[in-house]
Amino acid sequence: MIYGDRIRLRAVEREDIPRYVEWLNDPEVTAGLLINLPLASWDETRWFENLAEREAIDRPLAVEARLPEGGWKHIGNVGLHQFEKIHRSAEFGIFIGDKSCWNQGYGTEATRLTVKHGFETLNLNRIYLSVYNTNPRAVCAYEKAGFVHEGVQRQAIYRNGRYLDLIFMSILRSEWEALKG
Ligand SMILES: CC(C)(COP(=O)(O)OP(=O)(O)OC[C@H]1O[C@@H](n2cnc3c(N)ncnc32)[C@H](O)[C@@H]1OP(=O)(O)O)[C@@H](O)C(=O)NCCC(=O)NCCS
Repeated sequence: MIYGDRIRLRAVEREDIPRYVEWLNDPEVTAGLLINLPLASWDETRWFENLAEREAIDRPLAVEARLPEGGWKHIGNVGLHQFEKIHRSAEFGIFIGDKSCWNQGYGTEATRLTVKHGFETLNLNRIYLSVYNTNPRAVCAYEKAGFVHEGVQRQAIYRNGRYLDLIFMSILRSEWEALKG
């Protein structure tokens, strides 16, 4: 497991599937994600079973928050994908599905912890992401974790009857080292 101050990242387990199905059918959660169709339990079961075929570093991780009374609660998901072995880059993705945990710093901490893992364990040089311009909460969390704005693809996404801009952000290993220092 990968431990932060208030959260930890662990492998996804079969028992997590019902929570993912609930979260990924919640329009408030999926508003910032690529998912825009109802998701069945078997969709998620198939996704889970396909994880075994992926390289271990390419598998998503469950985010758990430390409970005040002790123990841990599964609140979301992070991942690094699209690994480029020569360029040492990967794409970051996150959702905190438990909405009662929004705006409490968990997304920022999970982002920081995944970035640390990407640079200090997986030896990446660049971690990048894209986020809709309608998702200021996510942009704020990414900025707090050290991501910088790279540019915008205008009207790149069609969603709920309108076009959204796609904001590109990234963090370099040198920037991460400077932030740590
Ligand atoms: C985006 C997400 C990961 C952020 O996680 P989180 O735990 O809520 O984020 P944090 O609490 O760490 O940080 C959010 C920041 O945004 C701020 N914020 C919230 N709503 C905002 C808004 N409308 N405008 C500007 N800032 C806003 C919060 O105040 C907070 O900043 P602060 O700590 O300085 O007060 C989470 O909300 C989520 O998973 N959403 C649904 C899925 C999603 O959109 N994933 C990202 C796809 S790119």
